[in-house]
Amino acid sequence: MEKRYGRITGWGAYVPEKVLTNHDLEKMVDTSHDWIVQRTGIHQRHIAGPDETNATMSTEAARRALAKANLDATELDLIIVATTTGDYITPAVSSQVQHMLGATDVPAFVLANGCTGFLYALTTAQQFISGGVYKNILIIGSELLSRYVDWTDRNTCVLFGDAAGAFVMQASNEPCGVYGFDMGSDGSGSENIIAPAMGSAEPVNATTFAEGRQFIRMNGREVFKFATRILGRTSQRSLDQAGMSFNDIDCIVPHQANLRIIQAAAKVMDVPMERFLVKVHKYANTSAASIPVAICDGLESGEISLDDRLLLVSFGSGLTWASAVLQMAPTRQRQVYTNGTKAPVVAELVAA
Ligand SMILES: CC(C)(COP(=O)(O)OP(=O)(O)OC[C@H]1O[C@@H](n2cnc3c(N)ncnc32)[C@H](O)[C@@H]1OP(=O)(O)O)[C@@H](O)C(=O)NCCC(=O)NCCS
Repeated sequence: MEKRYGRITGWGAYVPEKVLTNHDLEKMVDTSHDWIVQRTGIHQRHIAGPDETNATMSTEAARRALAKANLDATELDLIIVATTTGDYITPAVSSQVQHMLGATDVPAFVLANGCTGFLYALTTAQQFISGGVYKNILIIGSELLSRYVDWTDRNTCVLFGDAAGAFVMQASNEPCGVYGFDMGSDGSGSENIIAPAMGSAEPVNATTFAEGRQFIRMNGREVFKFATRILGRTSQRSLDQAGMSFNDIDCIVPHQANLRIIQAAAKVMDVPMERFLVKVHKYANTSAASIPVAICDGLESGEISLDDRLLLVSFGSGLTWASAVLQMAPTRQRQVYTNGTKAPVVAELVAA
């Protein structure tokens, strides 16, 4: 069988209109704009309105991605929604999204893996494409975290935001897509990010509810240490699989959780910060939505282009990690970097 690549033909993001700034948070908990910026790099986050749900945000991001790809929802072969904050425990939000898009009878499932969910979904979609099973796949990363955080807990409530991002991946004969990936999990750290009373282990009752055990709790210092340890390692594994080095990468798109974590990762990777796409100041940590939303923003601002070689890298609850070397579209125009600086775009077009 001819080799099939997963080309990203459509991308779209949806962020709720309402913005909650650090100064707004100062009125809600004992915190300050300066503390939040210094420790996290976050300036603001978007918060879903009362009529919005994970399904409506996912559907809007998906509609935008489908329009870019010029693809009708009925032509989809599969829908994957990466999220841990679906509208209900059951049914899966993926079926709601499938219905709202009018993607009649298209299979749909949720991939619940916290902040690494989108990269797990991306590599899963790639397997269906390269195996020749499906041609058109919709991948969504969506989180409505504002309904899962304790707005009286300053340790967590300043960190998260709501958003959705979507990619359309289509089979292509031209080299592009995921060139290498790495995924991993270490459940021994599962208590470090946990909503204790949101599942079957500890069903919500009056006592757990009063103690706020349905909300996300986090051991920030442990998560920080884990993230700085793992980001460089998993990136190297993806690069090895792709037969590339950091010098072959145009832009690194890390999980947008904390600027200090990104800076620490840059040090470990020995890559200057200019080659990282950073959007954490605008959206805060939107978990599974963080990487696709950052990419959509970067494409719109011109910071990245479709044929850039991107290194996507994430960490999150589980604890889990994932990375992937991704070139969204086939090479037409390569950008060259020397000594980590962005050189002018090579004028000559390389035939696709
Ligand atoms: C949460 C995080 C920003 C805290 O930063 P930190 O430098 O580790 O801060 P510490 O936890 O050591 O807390 C220092 C002090 O600040 C306080 N503090 C915590 N949140 C605060 C806030 N929003 N405003 C003001 N003070 C705050 C703490 O109570 C603590 O006070 P104490 O020393 O009197 O006990 C940081 O640990 C982090 O980003 N971790 C990773 C989290 C993450 O990425 N999670 C998502 C994973 S997908």
